[in-house]
Amino acid sequence: MAEEKNTIVWNEAQRKFETVDKKAYIEYEVRGSKVIDITHTYVPPSKRGLGLAADLCAAAFTHAQNHSLSVIPTCSYVSDTFLPRNPNWNSIVHKDDPKSSM
Ligand code: COA
Repeated sequence: MAEEKNTIVWNEAQRKFETVDKKAYIEYEVRGSKVIDITHTYVPPSKRGLGLAADLCAAAFTHAQNHSLSVIPTCSYVSDTFLPRNPNWNSIVHKDDPKSSM
């Protein structure tokens, strides 16, 4: 069976989620043991407007949720477009810990 072009895979070594052809990707940095910072999303011009960036975000957020990680949405696509359109994912957006919970 031919591999779907838009299948998204985790590239752990390069800290990306990317399409199999590597042309579209979301990049993150690890901040401590329980936080990832999504720094950049890229989709080639010919594939834009089809929801591919949203699929990349969904893969990254699902991964974070499955690993009990919170997410810093540094990339403007994530903060300004993906999260407002998918507010359920705000539940794992990183919040600075208050000095004390008491
Ligand atoms: N910041 C926030 N939102 C953006 C954006 C940006 N820089 N560029 C486009 N968008 C929004 C548009 O408003 C668009 O809205 P529409 O659906 O009403 O047209 C929406 O993204 C499209 O969503 P989707 O189809 O899921 O995204 P995409 O697959 O077209 O990819 C980008 C979106 C931003 C990843 C792509 O345009 C890109 O690679 N741009 C160049 C790199 C970049 O600016 N990355 C984001 C900052 S790190």
